[in-house]
Amino acid sequence: MYPIDLKSDTVTRPSKAMREAMFNAEVGDDVYGEDPTVNLLQEKAAAIMGMEASIFLPSGTMGNLAAILAHCGRGEGAIIGVNSHIYINEGGGLAALGGVVPLTVDDSSGLVPPSEIDDNCRPVNVHFAPARLLCLENTHNRCGGLAASPAEMKVSADGARKHGLAVHIDGARIFNAAAAWKCDVKEYASLADSIQFCLSKGLGAPIGSMLCGSKAYIGRALHWRKKLGGGLRQAGIMAAAGVYALDNNTARLSEDHENAALITKGLSDGGLEVEKISVPTNMVYFHAPAAAAGDLHVRCAEKGLLFNAAAGGRIRLVTHIDVSREQALRAVEIILEEVSGK
Ligand SMILES: Cc1ncc(COP(=O)(O)O)c(C=O)c1O
Repeated sequence: MYPIDLKSDTVTRPSKAMREAMFNAEVGDDVYGEDPTVNLLQEKAAAIMGMEASIFLPSGTMGNLAAILAHCGRGEGAIIGVNSHIYINEGGGLAALGGVVPLTVDDSSGLVPPSEIDDNCRPVNVHFAPARLLCLENTHNRCGGLAASPAEMKVSADGARKHGLAVHIDGARIFNAAAAWKCDVKEYASLADSIQFCLSKGLGAPIGSMLCGSKAYIGRALHWRKKLGGGLRQAGIMAAAGVYALDNNTARLSEDHENAALITKGLSDGGLEVEKISVPTNMVYFHAPAAAAGDLHVRCAEKGLLFNAAAGGRIRLVTHIDVSREQALRAVEIILEEVSGK
């Protein structure tokens, strides 16, 4: 029996049916464009997003990086939130590998206010790195897994268009956002020039991300994927998991949101401080009392519940396909027992 693992939705293990799809996948050399399963996945992802083309990449980090490098040249600026995954958690790849200047803005609302975009679009002048791109993140990981609506994102996207910027969405969990708003992911994709989404998070695949956009743009991103070492050979084994995930695992995401809501309610009823998110998805952030926070993750792990150590007293729990309703309720019991010292 595996522990109840709420560290992240990246921890899922492929189901038997998904493994069978992988086992049976037809493959070829994808660097030659000859892997039929990768080609099928790429066509499917593009169609789902309502975009012309897509490419399969090994990770969301590489997807975002290839996306940014295909939009911006060296010394050009990408407007990104200070709380965004791209800025905080992707090793500064855009600057390190592409010479792209991060123009940071306040995204503590989960969105980028147009005024922040205006401030970073400076007049053409030798002093300034010209802004070329706005990056948005939805759902927003650090902002509690908040799901922004297409209408809310449009305000930021329009703010960027006004200045002639391209728009990229880090939609690692865009299907969670669409589930929360009961809308089609196309409504988000239609706002952007490029969107990256992960197969290896809520959708339950073991590996991989998709980057979608126009044919010309994806051609440039493909070049970057190769330069970044992401050109894979018989990748159909992994792409088959992605095809399976898109066919079977998007409609069930609301179950993860319901389980997260149960955890939120259970912890709040038990007297813990749980962050209130206007439109929550599969994440719960709570603050353990200072006396308990330090080693709470260690003590809960001994009882079969995993989550990461508190960062600044803030603890994140993430529900996913391998967490049942019963396990969500059990997680609440374990945390409350440990916080109260039982
Ligand atoms: C919002 C967001 N974007 C991108 C990524 C990167 O994905 P990967 O871990 O596949 O590189 C993550 C990973 O957790 C994420 O949460």
